[in-house]
Amino acid sequence: MNEQIPYFRQRLQEKLPPMRYEHSLGVSYTAMALAMRYEYDLDKAELAGLLHDCAKHYNDAEIIKKCRKHEIELKDAELKAPAVLHAKYGAWLAERRYGITDPDVLSAIRWHTTGRAGMTTLDKIIYIADYIEPRRDKAPDLPRMRKMAFEDLDLTMYAILEGTLLYLKKKGGTVDPMTNEAYEYFKKLTSPGR
Ligand SMILES: [Fe+2]
Ligand SMILES: [Fe+2]
Repeated sequence: MNEQIPYFRQRLQEKLPPMRYEHSLGVSYTAMALAMRYEYDLDKAELAGLLHDCAKHYNDAEIIKKCRKHEIELKDAELKAPAVLHAKYGAWLAERRYGITDPDVLSAIRWHTTGRAGMTTLDKIIYIADYIEPRRDKAPDLPRMRKMAFEDLDLTMYAILEGTLLYLKKKGGTVDPMTNEAYEYFKKLTSPGR
């Protein structure tokens, strides 16, 4: 176990609303279960899961302001759909305020909202754990996704991204181009005769 985990937990509990903290623990434990299944490093999975929403308690305007203050580049698509920005700012906070140096952990936090083409194993584990953790109850098709997550990470990524894009389309929300790229990537990767 990473010795800093109890300290990070305490710090997050002070900052995040109770349900968000519960969710962070849920993602952390689910990420470790997936790491066991896919023979990935448990410590990295735990840490990335715990910290993935470390910037989620800020609202969109605050995050934009903080990104500008710290000269974190903002793309037009991110300004149009700023809900995804807590991942980008979260990775910055994890590095600068929590002292995380592991690039794999920082990457998993960075990409947990949009996904991206060529996601690493930990990127996928955190993205999926965020969707299926036990406290979640609103996402569609949860029982199927939860089962699939322990069978095939790429197929699960494809299924979640497909559902997310459909939902955003129906809602008329702006889609970050990274999500489209991630979808195309996993579609190709998981299609028969690849
Ligand atoms: Fe998040
Ligand atoms: Fe989350």
